[in-house]
Amino acid sequence: MESRVLNIKYVTCSFDELEKSDAELVEAAKKATFSSYAPYSNFSVGAAVRLSNNEIVQGSNQENAAFGAGTCAERCAMFYANSKYPDYAICSIAIAARGVSGEFVHSPISPCGVCRQALIEAQTRAKLPIRVLLYGGREVCIFESVSDLLPFQFDEIL
Ligand code: THU
Repeated sequence: MESRVLNIKYVTCSFDELEKSDAELVEAAKKATFSSYAPYSNFSVGAAVRLSNNEIVQGSNQENAAFGAGTCAERCAMFYANSKYPDYAICSIAIAARGVSGEFVHSPISPCGVCRQALIEAQTRAKLPIRVLLYGGREVCIFESVSDLLPFQFDEIL
């Protein structure tokens, strides 16, 4: 028997420390929160993906009275990007959220398990790591690959 420890590397910084293209992506994610439809949770999430053609595509959470029918901002942005530009890989994604108060969250939120699985598939499909930027007013967290957010990922059938 052997115990093992996994280390996950990520960077944390302030918004002002971001390089220009990352700051632009985070701004797009923040802006996307204003197109959220979240009458049930009052939690508005925005996501913005940057593609290999340098286009930015935004998405936001879209809820529904039949709760399972709604979707998260991340999948909204990713699937929209893949349907609009099927030939371009997703290089990075930024995520931002505003809570019930309408203010942006101080600590970053991170993607739910279903979105992590969808992100992993996009990454495996393109054979390129997707950078993930999680925005919070106090700090931004940057992961260089979705694998860091989903260790022991399932991608065997791809
Ligand atoms: N939500 C997202 O859009 N992305 C996340 O990463 C976490 C949660 C949405 C789903 C639901 O509409 C609301 O936030 C509250 O969970």
